[in-house]
Amino acid sequence: MIGLSWDAVRLSLHVVAATIWVGGQLVLAALVPVLRGAGGDTVRLAARRFNTVAWPAFAVLVATGVWNVVAERHHLHGAYRTTLVVKLAVVVLSGGAAALHVRARTAAARGIWGGLTGVAALTALVLGVLLAG
Ligand code: HEM
Repeated sequence: MIGLSWDAVRLSLHVVAATIWVGGQLVLAALVPVLRGAGGDTVRLAARRFNTVAWPAFAVLVATGVWNVVAERHHLHGAYRTTLVVKLAVVVLSGGAAALHVRARTAAARGIWGGLTGVAALTALVLGVLLAG
């Protein structure tokens, strides 16, 4: 059996948080038509409930992300460094767009910021896999 290293703990926490932030958005988006069919405030209540796990997951992503950078600091040059900088910009975009999505007043604004949140989150995931590869 391979032993559980701190690197494995660090990456596992980062990946679990990514599954909630990225996967959770995709699943919630897929459920919206059914939730809307249930009528009343169902969509808003479900989205609010998702927020209570999504934002802590985002915080864990940032915290374990910093831990990743410290652990991989010997790699911080050339293409790795450029990929990380682009990833950080995409992560800021994902979090910022999510905050604007939550505060949006119109369906159009909610849709645009929600879509941007998802695309940026998926991009951050792929850039993360490139960094870890
Ligand atoms: C939306 C937010 C984020 C997502 C979805 C995300 C996703 C991922 C994924 C899927 C991996 C690959 C893990 C693996 O293959 O084992 C990864 C690796 C990595 N992430 Fe993130 N991440 C996010 C935020 C951050 C932040 C904020 C930082 C830095 C402050 C960061 C720094 C890193 C580093 C350095 C690696 C490579 C780790 C290694 O090779 O040991 N990530 N990320």
